Amino acid sequence: MILCINPYCVSCKDWWCAPYYIVTVYTLTLVMSGPQVVLVTGSTRGLGLAIVQALCQGFKGDVYLSARDVPRGAMVVEDLQREGLKPKLLQLDITDPVSIQAARQHFMKEYGGLDVLINNAGIAPKRGDPASFGSQAERILQTNFFATRDMCNEFLPLLKKDGRIVNVASIVGYITLYMCSPDLQARLCSDDITEEELVALMKRFVAEAKAGDHINKGWPNSVYGVSKIGLMALTRIQARRLRREMPQRGILINSCCPGWVKSDMTYPNGTKTPAEGADTPVYLALLPPATLEPQGEFVVDRQVQVWAGSPTGATINEGP
Ligand SMILES: NC(=O)c1ccc[n+]([C@@H]2O[C@H](COP(=O)([O-])OP(=O)(O)OC[C@H]3O[C@@H](n4cnc5c(N)ncnc54)[C@H](OP(=O)(O)O)[C@@H]3O)[C@@H](O)[C@H]2O)c1
Repeated sequence: MILCINPYCVSCKDWWCAPYYIVTVYTLTLVMSGPQVVLVTGSTRGLGLAIVQALCQGFKGDVYLSARDVPRGAMVVEDLQREGLKPKLLQLDITDPVSIQAARQHFMKEYGGLDVLINNAGIAPKRGDPASFGSQAERILQTNFFATRDMCNEFLPLLKKDGRIVNVASIVGYITLYMCSPDLQARLCSDDITEEELVALMKRFVAEAKAGDHINKGWPNSVYGVSKIGLMALTRIQARRLRREMPQRGILINSCCPGWVKSDMTYPNGTKTPAEGADTPVYLALLPPATLEPQGEFVVDRQVQVWAGSPTGATINEGP
């Protein structure tokens, strides 16, 4: 070990160099003791906005409302400020890798990481959309599965101790799972499916949907349902990896359904208000430190749902 004799040196990177030691400990302390921070994707309206409102009241730290369109996000933030809430604003389009990288760098620079990520951004088929089933499959899986997976993979390494990821999935995915062929169900529910295998299955669904062959190949006739099955299966896979590779970090990742919420997505239907729908995602986001469960689960009304075991007599229409 080299003993630096220059009292002002901070560049030798030797812990015996007093200035280097002091600067490093000071920086680490600032980062570790900085405010906690939560990011909610797709939060200018609907459920995401209600989650931001609830967190502004219940989370001890900075709450980021994120918007694809910054002027629109700024207007929503101003509305919330008039209610006495103080969210911060970030530009984020989860399908744009440049936007994800900019968000990542922002949280690294300003907070040294992130405490909670709520992956709420999502899309559903529009009523009367003339696009083919195949092109809807490509578009909807791109946002609900592939881009949300990018968010998980980019932000998981940034999550601080006792961090939380909440993936907003849907009961439609849960039900649709049991409309898959027995072979597909077996793989999607297995405890040894890898992220690579899941990604390949989701790509296969898109390809078979585009070829008009998805039903013959054992898939259900629901793009939205398959996109959310993918998200729920991803959550289980990433939770297993967290348990195996970094149990000491205390990070929890879960998926959930908010219920049937009145929003642009469900207009003019939905039985819950967005505030009621926000209850379970916010509950999962605020699970206290040192909580071990739920981990990798699908949660509805704060209750863990059994993943393997078919709900009987289930039928669905395409919708959230
Ligand atoms: N409503 C329900 O009954 C229900 C039930 C189960 C699950 N969910 C899930 O809950 C989540 C929110 O649904 P909601 O009902 O609130 O829908 P919504 O009113 O249509 O809002 C969707 C939000 O996602 C954002 N978004 C879409 N694509 C995005 C992208 N590429 N990058 C960033 N943001 C994006 C939208 O942003 P813009 O404003 O820029 O378009 C909007 O803020 C979705 O994941 C949905 O699948 C909803």
